Amino acid sequence: MDKQRIKIDLSNYLGIEVNANFRVYQDRVFSIISGLYNSRQDISKMTGWLDLPHAQGMYTEVNNLVQKIQSEDKYEHLLVLGIGGSSLGAQALIEGLNSPIWNRLSKGKRKGSLTVDFIDNLDPVIIRTILSRLKLDQTLFVVISKTGTTVETIVPMLIAREWAGENFYKQCIFITSNKGVLFELAQKHSVPVFQIPENVGGRYSVFSSVGLVPAGLCGIDLSEVKAGILEAERLCQMNDLKANIAATIALCAYFSYGAGKNIFVLMPYSTCLRRFVDWFVQLWAESLGKSKKGSTPTVAIGATDQHSQLQMFNEGPNDKLVCFVKVQKHKRDLTIPDYSSENPSFSSYADHKVGQILNIELDATRRALTENQRPNFTLTLPELDEYYLSQLMYIFEVATAVCGNLLGVNPFDQPGVELAKRYTKELLMSK
Ligand code: PA5
Repeated sequence: MDKQRIKIDLSNYLGIEVNANFRVYQDRVFSIISGLYNSRQDISKMTGWLDLPHAQGMYTEVNNLVQKIQSEDKYEHLLVLGIGGSSLGAQALIEGLNSPIWNRLSKGKRKGSLTVDFIDNLDPVIIRTILSRLKLDQTLFVVISKTGTTVETIVPMLIAREWAGENFYKQCIFITSNKGVLFELAQKHSVPVFQIPENVGGRYSVFSSVGLVPAGLCGIDLSEVKAGILEAERLCQMNDLKANIAATIALCAYFSYGAGKNIFVLMPYSTCLRRFVDWFVQLWAESLGKSKKGSTPTVAIGATDQHSQLQMFNEGPNDKLVCFVKVQKHKRDLTIPDYSSENPSFSSYADHKVGQILNIELDATRRALTENQRPNFTLTLPELDEYYLSQLMYIFEVATAVCGNLLGVNPFDQPGVELAKRYTKELLMSK
């Protein structure tokens, strides 16, 4: 039986979608997309990420590693050192699919997969606390950095090296390009290396070993991830806006930006999708924030942020486009017991599922925003699983790349990030 598709509902986009320009632009968008796919072999174009669903060799390599680690049964914990594109994709997959409380589950509930911690900042309290709570002899260290020179990754690695002692490099895997400090260190200490292809940028690297190694080690089903991105690849190349959600998102974002909506709010109704939004924020911000252009991405989680940011969305400046993400069928949903005998007001909850109420809240919020003329649209995932989450992430990657092209900026460079990295190095050297 065919799987259900991710759906996009534009009915609250407040009329912009029927604008003649939208239809005129669709051909331009389809030609941008085919240009992206056609440029995959050109290393300088940085579109190698579009080839990742077909990187069979990489899948074999990652699956072999996961099987080896599982069968050795030597490690309990995974510690991932990396930042930005070298961390957020894996965090999005693992938290999205295993939930943010994965580490609290028993080994049995984790089906033997590793617990995971990410160090993606130079906060001494966090570094110290994580290292001191792990059994370091049972910890597998995965160090991820394409350049191999990022201070927020190298510094915690040096601290971990000191804490773990002589065996540190025997317990390491490096994910990096085929040059640079990490690569040299790997040669010296015989550390296994997974290579990041030169034409895959950090924020587009989730479906390379950068995202798949940590995800696989935490029990994520990589064959379903692959099935999801292969389906996304198929849909993204369809010259039909109804099927091609990436093209539609790009057009929505582009036109609303042109209409003064300078803020793009991504608001999934699921706490598990918090890291997915963090991943999206980096993707969108680093890809589009150039030449004084680009809408600012904002994190909001439903229903939590209904009690925080919704007032601003509803009655503050009308400068936002809100993209809701609904999970149609929540996993392991709970039925609310009927305690109306204890208080009649409880009767309205009785026999509903918790996830159903979350979705009712989403629909209510959409309606409230629409009544206040606040443009919004909704993406609906049939379920939150490997197949749909990876599909959604791939769709957002394509949508971002298309939006960059529509705005006339290069979605694959990050000169503003590089500049701050360089100044940090200069300041360090001058001390
Ligand atoms: O998307 C990007 O290119 C950046 O966010 C990088 O991923 C981030 O700066 C980390 O770089 P590196 O992987 O070289 O350590």
